[in-house]
Amino acid sequence: MSASIGARRWGKGWVKGNAVVCPYHGWQFGGDGKCTHIPTLDDDKVPARAKVDSYPVQEKYGIVFAFLGDLPEEERPPLHEIEEYDQEGWRTNRLVVFELNAFYERSIENGLDPSHNEFVHPAQGSPGMQPDFRKKPLDMHDSAWGSEFLVRFDNKLTDTRALADVAQSVPEVTAGSGFVGPNQMITWIRFSENAMFHQYFFEAPIDESHTQVFFVNMRTFMLEPENDGRLVNINLTIAQEDIDLLETLDPVGTPNSPTEEVLVPSDGAVISYRKHLKTWKDNGWRVDMETMRAKRQNMTFAIPCPARRTSGNWVLNPVPLIPGANQD
Ligand SMILES: [Fe+2]
Repeated sequence: MSASIGARRWGKGWVKGNAVVCPYHGWQFGGDGKCTHIPTLDDDKVPARAKVDSYPVQEKYGIVFAFLGDLPEEERPPLHEIEEYDQEGWRTNRLVVFELNAFYERSIENGLDPSHNEFVHPAQGSPGMQPDFRKKPLDMHDSAWGSEFLVRFDNKLTDTRALADVAQSVPEVTAGSGFVGPNQMITWIRFSENAMFHQYFFEAPIDESHTQVFFVNMRTFMLEPENDGRLVNINLTIAQEDIDLLETLDPVGTPNSPTEEVLVPSDGAVISYRKHLKTWKDNGWRVDMETMRAKRQNMTFAIPCPARRTSGNWVLNPVPLIPGANQD
């Protein structure tokens, strides 16, 4: 994550040794969230209440993943494993990070939508689903935390696109996508057994209308390193076509009820995603943004961290949650 983004979005603190330093009065906080040093106090006088939430993190694929919540480890949505990462026969592009002015759920749904490609992606040749797949419900395959599908598209890539021949010479492409948890999306694009892209999008909500996407692109062809830059540019062109559309959507979030829009069979993955979102909301996991917005003038909120389950005396207010239908 670049320093400029951190400074703009999340404050102006800095790291000193193993501590994060507050830019206002120089208080220092350790990785466990506890304040270790207040410049105007002796270190043994730092109040126990001087602490902030600290979240479990994992570093993988060049990304630091944080779990923002207080669930015990065994109850958390899994971090999706990229099984082919570092495997022979696969090449990873450098990590691509981009931002969009849209809510992350809209961005995930865009990736789960096979019918937009023929209208939004002229740079890909505007691929349309083949007739066998057009009017039937998507054949969704469910997992514990998500769902996925594969369909076939007419391959309309032309030699002007400068992908390898192996990708441009086949008449059809098998492709699809899926989600794992609320903000991990995967796309599979298979020109042949030997020419595939597997694309992983980890989408971090910044707020209700901004999302930061961490994109890992894996491939089994065009393996020479000199192709990396060209493929990043192609991917970013495609992403920009989506972004230009997503930033105009109204409402910014997803509609509250299926009665407020018309869904069709090709929306099967979106429907599945919405069902999972409802389950997670019913578990009591959705932040009550309306209440939080109304109180933000004089209150600061934090998503409770796991330590809140075993200790009290916290200064920051826990984010308000929408009571879940599955809760006692
Ligand atoms: Fe798209």
